Amino acid sequence: MVNELTVVVLAAGGGTRMKSKTMKVLHPIGGRTMVGHVLAAVQEVGPDRVVAVVGHQRDEVGAHIRSLVPDVVLAVQETQDGTGHAVRVAVEAAGTTSGTVLVAAGDTPLLRGESLRAFAEDHAASGRAVSILTGVVADPHGYGRIVRDPDGLVAAIVEEKDADDEQRAIREINSGILAFDATFLVDALPRLTNDNAKGEYYLTDTVGLARTAGLAVGAHVLDDVRQTEGANDRVQLADLGRELNRRILERWMRDGVTVMDPATTWVDADVVLAPDVTLLPGTQLLGATVVAEDAVVGPDTTLQDCEVGEGARVVRTHAQLAVIGAGANVGPFSYLRPGTRLGAGGKIGAFVETKNADIGDGAKVPHLSYVGDAEVGEGTNIGAGTIVANYDGVDKHRTTVGRHARTGANNTFVAPVTIGDGASTAGGTVVRRDVPPGALAVSAGTQRNLEHWVFARRAGTAQADAAERALGAAGAAGAGESGGGTSGGRDVSHGGRGGVGQTDDGGGES
Ligand code: UD1
Ligand code: CA
Repeated sequence: MVNELTVVVLAAGGGTRMKSKTMKVLHPIGGRTMVGHVLAAVQEVGPDRVVAVVGHQRDEVGAHIRSLVPDVVLAVQETQDGTGHAVRVAVEAAGTTSGTVLVAAGDTPLLRGESLRAFAEDHAASGRAVSILTGVVADPHGYGRIVRDPDGLVAAIVEEKDADDEQRAIREINSGILAFDATFLVDALPRLTNDNAKGEYYLTDTVGLARTAGLAVGAHVLDDVRQTEGANDRVQLADLGRELNRRILERWMRDGVTVMDPATTWVDADVVLAPDVTLLPGTQLLGATVVAEDAVVGPDTTLQDCEVGEGARVVRTHAQLAVIGAGANVGPFSYLRPGTRLGAGGKIGAFVETKNADIGDGAKVPHLSYVGDAEVGEGTNIGAGTIVANYDGVDKHRTTVGRHARTGANNTFVAPVTIGDGASTAGGTVVRRDVPPGALAVSAGTQRNLEHWVFARRAGTAQADAAERALGAAGAAGAGESGGGTSGGRDVSHGGRGGVGQTDDGGGES
C-alpha cells in the first residue's frame, strides 16, 4: 500500500468550452457527475486525505464534492494561475508535508480506481520524486508531451504551446495524473515560474526541478489511455458517454447479462444487474436501479432508481423510484412514479399511471387507470379505466382497497375512501363512501331505454335502417320508454357473472 497518501483533485477551471451555466466537472455522464467518477476512482485507492481545488462556482462544486466525500479538504484557488499554482493551494490547505501526493483532474470520467492504485503503488515502490501517468495517443494535440533523454528517462514535459515541431511530433503525452514525493513537491512548488506561453505556473515544470536536483523522475504508461481523457466540450462529453456506456455494458455482459442491442441500451455506472437479466433494445437503466435474476426489461423502457424483482417483466415503461416485485408484469405503456410498489406476481398494465401506490402481491391494475396515494391489497383486481381521485384541489388523500376485492370498470374512488376486503363495485361506480368487506357498491343511476327513439329522431339514417332491420317492420312502430327491467329481450342490464361491469382478467390476460 501507499504510505500516507494525499490525493489532489483539480476542479477550479471554468470549462468555458462547455458553453454552459453548469460547471464542467458537474456535467452528468453515466449517472454521475464527471468529478463524481473521478472521486469514486480516488476512493478505491483508499487515500488518507482528499483535497479538491475549487475556483469557478466554488459553492456548487464544493458542496457537490463534499456530498460525495464528506471529509474532503476544499482548497479555494481564487484565480486560475495554472496547475502548479492549484496544487500549491491544495498542499497548503491540507498542510501536507510528507508521504505521497497524487494529482488528478476532475474531468476524466473513464478513470478506474484500479489504474490509479497501480500507478500510486508503482510510484511509492519506485522511490521517485515525480511519476507521470502517460499514454501513447494517435493525436497528441493539446497535451503536454513527454520528452525523454537519450537513455529513455523523462527529461521534461513540454506543453503544446511551448513545444517545437520535433516535440509536437511526440505521441507520448502527460495524462495530467502525477504522483509526487510530498517533501520534494512542497519544496518545488514555490520555485515554479510562469515564464511560458500561457503565463501559468505549470505543475509539469516540477519534472525539470527534480532532474536538476538529481532526483528520479519516471513515467508509468497506461495502455488504456481513454481512462485519462477529459471532456472539454459537449461533443467530447457525448463521445466519452458512449464509451463509458460501452464499457459498462461489456462488463455486465461478461457477468451474464444479455444485452440484445448495446447501441440503444444505456446503463448508468451505479446500476446493479444479476446474471440472466435480459435487456431489450431502447432500455435505459439509470441511477441506483437494481434488477434481479431472470428479469426482462424493455424494449423502450426507462427505469430510474428502481428495483426490479426476480423474473419480472417490464415492457415499454417509464418508472422512477418504483419497486417491482418478483414475477410481476408491468406495461406496455405504464408510468410508475415515485413511491410505487408492486408486489410479487402483480400487474400494472397498459396505459396505467401510478404514484405513491402500494399494490399488493398478485394484485392487478391491468388497464387505463390512475392509482395515486393508494394501497391495493393482495389478490385484488382493479377494473379498467379506474381513477383514484386523490386530490381535492387543495390536499392529497389516501385510498385503501382491501384484499381480493373486485372493482368495476370505469370507477372513480374519491379519496379518502376505503373499500373492504372481498368487496366489489359495479361498473361506473363513483365510490365516495367506504365500502364494507364483502359488499357490492353501486352508484350509477338506473338505466332507461327510450324504445324506438331512433325512428323518431334519426329517421332515414343508416342507424335507423339498421334498427329497423333488427326489429322487423312490425317492431318499428311508435317510440316508447322502458325502465331498467326486461323489454323485448334487448335490455342491456343483464344479470349473471360480469353483470357488475368488471374487467376481471381472471388471472390471465384480458
Ligand atoms: C494539463 C497539463 C498537460 C496535460 C493535460 C492533460 C499542465 C501545465 N499541463 O494541460 O501536460 O497533458 O493537462 O489533460 O499541467 N486547473 C485548476 N486550476 C488552474 C488550472 C487548471 O484547477 O489554475 C484544473 C483544470 O480545471 C483542469 C486541470 O486542472 O481540471 C487541467 O488544467 P488545464 O488547464 O485543462 O490543463 P491543460 O492545458 O489541459
Ligand atoms: Ca485540459
